[in-house]
Amino acid sequence: MNLETPHGRQFPRPGASLRARRAIAPLRGRIAVPGDKSISHRALMFAGLAIGETRITGLLEGEDVLRTAVAMRALGAHVLCDAPGIWRVIGAGIGGLHSPEDVLDMGNSGTAARLLCGILASHDIFAVMTGDASLRRRPMRRVIDPLAACGAVFAARAGGRLPLAVTGAADALPLSYRLPVASAQVKSALLLAGLNARGITEIEEPEPTRDHSENMLRHFGAAVSVIPHGHGKLVRLHGQPELMAADIVVPGDPSSAAFPIVAALLVPGSRIVIEGVGLNPLRTGLVATLIEMGADIVITNRREAGGEPVGDLVVSASSLQGSDVPAERAPSMIDEYPILAVACALARGPSRLRGLGELRVKESDRLAATLAMLRVNGATVEVEGDDMIIAGGANRLGGGRVITHMDHRLAMSALVMGLAADAPVAIDDAGFIDTSFPGFVDLMRGLGAVIEPMEEDA
Ligand code: S3P
Repeated sequence: MNLETPHGRQFPRPGASLRARRAIAPLRGRIAVPGDKSISHRALMFAGLAIGETRITGLLEGEDVLRTAVAMRALGAHVLCDAPGIWRVIGAGIGGLHSPEDVLDMGNSGTAARLLCGILASHDIFAVMTGDASLRRRPMRRVIDPLAACGAVFAARAGGRLPLAVTGAADALPLSYRLPVASAQVKSALLLAGLNARGITEIEEPEPTRDHSENMLRHFGAAVSVIPHGHGKLVRLHGQPELMAADIVVPGDPSSAAFPIVAALLVPGSRIVIEGVGLNPLRTGLVATLIEMGADIVITNRREAGGEPVGDLVVSASSLQGSDVPAERAPSMIDEYPILAVACALARGPSRLRGLGELRVKESDRLAATLAMLRVNGATVEVEGDDMIIAGGANRLGGGRVITHMDHRLAMSALVMGLAADAPVAIDDAGFIDTSFPGFVDLMRGLGAVIEPMEEDA
């Protein structure tokens, strides 16, 4: 497998330890963060199933998304990179994909692996999928169990772990399923399977999760209906539509913007502008929470890009107050808890972050890893059931070395902590940052952050 992007950037290699320390000057500047990871995966997959040529602008070129590009190519779609961030996909059409010649390696990406299971399940395809040590630990049963009902046969390692093999259904049945966990990945896998099933696929989600798949399906001309249902939604897709290629502009990823946002809030005197951030209401839980905590975040220049709301964020340093964050908000900020926990540790007063059970099955056990990140840096923090309680207002924070467990968001959260803590914060491995946020360290340095290699690596 070619691990180079077409414009020559190498995938990062694990191993570099970094240290962030308190900036002498405030953070200042105008930046844009890389394209949204969820939308980028979906753009490549849906375009690969469409008829005609889709131009994707602003695609995230992090390793996770490049794994999806390589996989879609192996399945028969033409995926081409014209220039940095500008990609073209010539789709094979629904039902038009073929078996890959080799194992599909999804690297660190749960989204790539789970969504791809949906595509494979309803195509007459045999495929084997694996991933890195982090992904091989993550549960796949949440997708393979419901997908088996369409007629696909999965064989996975004990506990439903990768590697797995799938023999897709030649004539897939539509699925009807109530999601037991609030998961956009599971919902999207079932919708992708439903694209090549005769009849209506129906998914009940008890709590709303990010709806990029539904938005993009409509963008490509599929008939999707979404009806409010209790606290959640009922999503219905008419199978075997003709997906017609349609250009996509990928907004900046709010989950990546989270890191410079919190850094600017915490470093005294800072003021930054982040342009073109996706503001889908099912993704903005962190911004809402920070504003409740007293953050000075102003949204300007609201507009639409590629069917998604977008705006520019003006973020100024603020004195934050601890918060009690309700469990219902978790799906709209599920990837942002490690960086929110950093903000809470440096805020005045206690915080309680509720309903974090899903963090246990992310790139790492993020509940345990976030707890350890805060504790090793002197914060007082407990986990009670699925809640995290952070004392806040610590006298002295920092000085610790954070083990990142192959988790990009842990690595970035720890570095942001170091920018505002009393003593520097080190991380064991910066290599995984590029899975979602290539260029993170340079971008933060451009704002004035002090992030440096550890002496042993320098
Ligand atoms: C994603 C959904 C979330 C999120 C992940 C991306 C998606 O996972 O954590 O980073 O693109 O659908 P779950 O669906 O497992 O909550």
